[in-house]
Amino acid sequence: MEKQPILVTDRLLLRSFDLADAPEVQRLAGDYAVAATTLLPYPYPAGLAGIWIASLREGIDRGDVAAFAVTLAPAGRLIGGVRLQIDGENARGELGFWVGRPFWGRGYATEAARAVIGYGFSVLNLHRIYAMHFSRNPASGRVMEKCGMVHEGRFREHVRKWGVFEDVDLRGILREYTTETLRVTPP
Ligand SMILES: CC(C)(COP(=O)(O)OP(=O)(O)OC[C@H]1O[C@@H](n2cnc3c(N)ncnc32)[C@H](O)[C@@H]1OP(=O)(O)O)[C@@H](O)C(=O)NCCC(=O)NCCS
Repeated sequence: MEKQPILVTDRLLLRSFDLADAPEVQRLAGDYAVAATTLLPYPYPAGLAGIWIASLREGIDRGDVAAFAVTLAPAGRLIGGVRLQIDGENARGELGFWVGRPFWGRGYATEAARAVIGYGFSVLNLHRIYAMHFSRNPASGRVMEKCGMVHEGRFREHVRKWGVFEDVDLRGILREYTTETLRVTPP
Protein backbone atom coordinates (compact mmCIF):
# COMPACT_ATOMS: atom_id res chain seq x y z
CA MET A 1 0.00 0.00 0.00
CA GLU A 2 1.26 3.51 -0.84
CA LYS A 3 2.09 5.35 2.37
CA GLN A 4 3.76 8.44 1.01
CA PRO A 5 2.05 11.48 -0.43
CA ILE A 6 3.28 13.44 -3.43
CA LEU A 7 5.14 16.63 -2.54
CA VAL A 8 4.71 19.53 -4.91
CA THR A 9 7.07 22.50 -5.13
CA ASP A 10 7.24 25.38 -7.61
CA ARG A 11 9.14 23.36 -10.22
CA LEU A 12 9.25 19.80 -8.90
CA LEU A 13 7.04 16.90 -8.05
CA LEU A 14 8.41 14.47 -5.46
CA ARG A 15 6.88 11.01 -5.52
CA SER A 16 7.77 7.52 -4.34
CA PHE A 17 10.35 5.63 -6.36
CA ASP A 18 9.05 2.88 -8.60
CA LEU A 19 10.99 -0.13 -9.89
CA ALA A 20 10.47 1.33 -13.37
CA ASP A 21 12.84 4.17 -12.30
CA ALA A 22 15.74 1.72 -11.93
CA PRO A 23 17.35 2.29 -15.36
CA GLU A 24 17.33 6.09 -14.95
CA VAL A 25 18.61 5.86 -11.36
CA GLN A 26 21.36 3.58 -12.65
CA ARG A 27 22.28 6.10 -15.34
CA LEU A 28 22.22 9.25 -13.17
CA ALA A 29 23.60 7.80 -9.92
CA GLY A 30 26.11 5.80 -11.94
CA ASP A 31 27.88 9.04 -12.88
CA TYR A 32 31.38 9.30 -11.41
CA ALA A 33 30.62 12.86 -10.25
CA VAL A 34 27.72 11.65 -8.12
CA ALA A 35 29.64 8.66 -6.72
CA ALA A 36 32.64 10.82 -5.81
CA THR A 37 30.82 12.77 -3.08
CA THR A 38 28.53 10.03 -1.77
CA LEU A 39 28.91 6.51 -0.43
CA LEU A 40 27.76 5.13 -3.80
CA PRO A 41 30.04 2.65 -5.52
CA TYR A 42 31.69 3.36 -8.86
CA PRO A 43 31.16 1.77 -11.27
CA TYR A 44 27.55 1.39 -10.21
CA PRO A 45 26.79 -2.33 -10.40
CA ALA A 46 24.04 -3.52 -12.76
CA GLY A 47 20.94 -4.35 -10.77
CA LEU A 48 21.82 -2.20 -7.76
CA ALA A 49 19.24 0.48 -8.58
CA GLY A 50 16.41 -2.05 -8.42
CA ILE A 51 17.71 -3.47 -5.13
CA TRP A 52 18.02 0.05 -3.72
CA ILE A 53 14.47 1.00 -4.75
CA ALA A 54 13.12 -2.23 -3.22
CA SER A 55 15.01 -1.54 0.01
CA LEU A 56 13.53 1.97 0.17
CA ARG A 57 10.05 0.53 -0.17
CA GLU A 58 10.74 -1.93 2.66
CA GLY A 59 12.00 0.93 4.82
CA ILE A 60 8.92 3.01 4.04
CA ASP A 61 6.70 0.05 4.99
CA ARG A 62 8.61 -0.37 8.28
CA GLY A 63 8.32 3.36 8.92
CA ASP A 64 12.02 4.04 9.17
CA VAL A 65 12.52 5.59 5.74
CA ALA A 66 10.93 8.39 3.74
CA ALA A 67 12.22 8.52 0.18
CA PHE A 68 11.21 10.58 -2.81
CA ALA A 69 12.10 10.51 -6.47
CA VAL A 70 12.63 14.11 -7.58
CA THR A 71 10.95 14.78 -10.92
CA LEU A 72 10.59 17.86 -13.05
CA ALA A 73 7.02 19.10 -13.22
CA PRO A 74 4.98 18.76 -15.33
CA ALA A 75 6.80 16.31 -17.62
CA GLY A 76 7.85 14.01 -14.82
CA ARG A 77 11.48 13.50 -15.77
CA LEU A 78 13.45 11.89 -12.93
CA ILE A 79 16.39 14.06 -11.86
CA GLY A 80 17.38 12.80 -8.42
CA GLY A 81 16.36 11.55 -5.02
CA VAL A 82 15.93 12.68 -1.42
CA ARG A 83 15.78 10.33 1.53
CA LEU A 84 15.20 10.56 5.27
CA GLN A 85 16.46 7.72 7.46
CA ILE A 86 14.16 7.91 10.47
CA ASP A 87 15.01 7.19 14.09
CA GLY A 88 11.55 7.10 15.64
CA GLU A 89 12.77 6.76 19.22
CA ASN A 90 14.53 10.10 18.97
CA ALA A 91 12.14 11.68 16.45
CA ARG A 92 15.02 12.53 14.17
CA GLY A 93 15.85 11.93 10.56
CA GLU A 94 19.08 11.84 8.58
CA LEU A 95 18.69 13.58 5.25
CA GLY A 96 20.47 12.51 2.08
CA PHE A 97 20.04 13.80 -1.46
CA TRP A 98 21.49 13.64 -4.95
CA VAL A 99 20.75 15.28 -8.27
CA GLY A 100 21.92 14.01 -11.65
CA ARG A 101 24.81 16.02 -13.05
CA PRO A 102 22.91 17.46 -16.06
CA PHE A 103 20.57 19.18 -13.59
CA TRP A 104 23.09 20.71 -11.16
CA GLY A 105 23.24 24.41 -10.41
CA ARG A 106 19.58 25.26 -10.86
CA GLY A 107 18.46 25.10 -7.25
CA TYR A 108 16.72 21.74 -7.63
CA ALA A 109 18.48 20.02 -4.71
CA THR A 110 17.56 22.89 -2.40
CA GLU A 111 13.95 22.94 -3.56
CA ALA A 112 13.60 19.17 -3.12
CA ALA A 113 15.41 18.99 0.22
CA ARG A 114 13.30 21.83 1.62
CA ALA A 115 10.13 19.97 0.69
CA VAL A 116 11.31 16.78 2.39
CA ILE A 117 12.41 18.68 5.50
CA GLY A 118 8.93 20.24 5.61
CA TYR A 119 7.42 16.78 5.23
CA GLY A 120 9.65 15.42 7.98
CA PHE A 121 8.55 18.06 10.45
CA SER A 122 4.91 18.55 9.55
CA VAL A 123 3.82 15.03 8.56
CA LEU A 124 6.35 12.68 10.17
CA ASN A 125 6.45 14.86 13.26
CA LEU A 126 10.24 14.75 13.53
CA HIS A 127 11.98 16.96 16.03
CA ARG A 128 15.38 17.16 14.35
CA ILE A 129 16.76 16.62 10.86
CA TYR A 130 20.48 16.37 10.26
CA ALA A 131 22.76 15.58 7.35
CA MET A 132 26.41 14.90 6.69
CA HIS A 133 28.55 15.77 3.72
CA PHE A 134 32.17 15.42 2.76
CA SER A 135 33.94 18.64 3.73
CA ARG A 136 35.34 18.82 0.19
CA ASN A 137 31.76 19.00 -1.14
CA PRO A 138 30.77 22.62 -0.42
CA ALA A 139 27.81 22.51 -2.84
CA SER A 140 26.11 19.98 -0.58
CA GLY A 141 26.86 22.08 2.49
CA ARG A 142 25.43 25.10 0.72
CA VAL A 143 22.22 23.22 -0.11
CA MET A 144 21.85 22.34 3.57
CA GLU A 145 22.59 25.90 4.60
CA LYS A 146 19.96 27.23 2.20
CA CYS A 147 17.51 24.78 3.82
CA GLY A 148 18.18 26.38 7.20
CA MET A 149 20.50 23.69 8.52
CA VAL A 150 23.26 25.03 10.75
CA HIS A 151 26.80 23.76 10.92
CA GLU A 152 27.21 21.63 14.04
CA GLY A 153 30.65 20.24 13.62
CA ARG A 154 33.27 18.46 11.61
CA PHE A 155 34.22 14.82 12.04
CA ARG A 156 37.85 14.51 11.10
CA GLU A 157 38.67 11.63 8.74
CA HIS A 158 35.36 10.05 9.65
CA VAL A 159 34.74 8.10 6.43
CA ARG A 160 37.10 6.03 4.30
CA LYS A 161 36.12 6.72 0.70
CA TRP A 162 38.03 4.84 -1.97
CA GLY A 163 40.89 4.32 0.46
CA VAL A 164 41.11 7.95 1.65
CA PHE A 165 40.00 9.08 5.12
CA GLU A 166 37.68 12.02 4.56
CA ASP A 167 36.55 14.86 6.84
CA VAL A 168 32.77 15.07 7.12
CA ASP A 169 30.66 18.06 8.14
CA LEU A 170 27.45 17.75 10.17
CA ARG A 171 24.53 20.14 9.77
CA GLY A 172 21.14 20.09 11.43
CA ILE A 173 17.83 21.84 11.85
CA LEU A 174 15.35 21.62 14.70
CA ARG A 175 11.63 21.64 14.22
CA GLU A 176 11.23 25.03 15.90
CA TYR A 177 13.38 26.72 13.28
CA THR A 178 11.57 25.58 10.17
CA THR A 179 9.17 27.93 8.44
CA GLU A 180 8.46 25.71 5.46
CA THR A 181 4.95 25.49 4.15
CA LEU A 182 4.17 22.19 2.56
CA ARG A 183 1.91 21.27 -0.32
CA VAL A 184 0.95 17.60 -0.06
CA THR A 185 -1.36 15.74 -2.40
CA PRO A 186 -2.50 12.12 -2.11
CA PRO A 187 -0.55 9.59 -4.23
C1 LIG B 1 25.36 18.55 -4.09
C2 LIG B 1 24.21 18.54 -5.08
C3 LIG B 1 23.04 17.80 -4.47
C4 LIG B 1 23.80 19.98 -5.40
O1 LIG B 1 22.69 19.95 -6.27
P1 LIG B 1 22.19 21.27 -7.02
O2 LIG B 1 20.83 21.01 -7.54
O3 LIG B 1 23.23 21.72 -7.98
O4 LIG B 1 22.13 22.28 -5.78
P2 LIG B 1 21.47 23.74 -5.76
O5 LIG B 1 21.49 24.31 -7.13
O6 LIG B 1 20.17 23.67 -5.04
O7 LIG B 1 22.49 24.54 -4.80
C5 LIG B 1 23.89 24.40 -4.96
C6 LIG B 1 24.57 25.53 -4.24
O8 LIG B 1 25.94 25.19 -4.06
C7 LIG B 1 26.74 26.22 -4.61
N1 LIG B 1 27.97 25.61 -5.07
C8 LIG B 1 28.16 24.81 -6.13
N2 LIG B 1 29.46 24.45 -6.21
C9 LIG B 1 30.08 25.05 -5.16
C10 LIG B 1 31.42 25.09 -4.70
N3 LIG B 1 32.38 24.41 -5.32
N4 LIG B 1 31.70 25.81 -3.59
C11 LIG B 1 30.74 26.48 -2.95
N5 LIG B 1 29.44 26.48 -3.34
C12 LIG B 1 29.13 25.77 -4.44
C13 LIG B 1 25.90 26.81 -5.71
O9 LIG B 1 26.36 28.07 -6.09
C14 LIG B 1 24.54 26.83 -5.00
O10 LIG B 1 24.47 27.85 -4.04
P3 LIG B 1 23.79 29.30 -4.36
O11 LIG B 1 22.36 29.04 -4.71
O12 LIG B 1 23.97 30.07 -3.10
O13 LIG B 1 24.53 29.88 -5.53
C15 LIG B 1 24.62 17.85 -6.42
O14 LIG B 1 25.80 18.45 -6.88
C16 LIG B 1 24.84 16.37 -6.26
O15 LIG B 1 23.90 15.60 -6.30
N6 LIG B 1 26.11 15.96 -6.11
C17 LIG B 1 26.47 14.56 -6.02
C18 LIG B 1 25.83 13.86 -4.85
C19 LIG B 1 26.05 14.60 -3.55
O16 LIG B 1 27.10 15.14 -3.29
N7 LIG B 1 25.00 14.58 -2.72
C20 LIG B 1 25.08 15.17 -1.41
C21 LIG B 1 25.67 14.17 -0.50
S1 LIG B 1 25.73 14.76 1.17
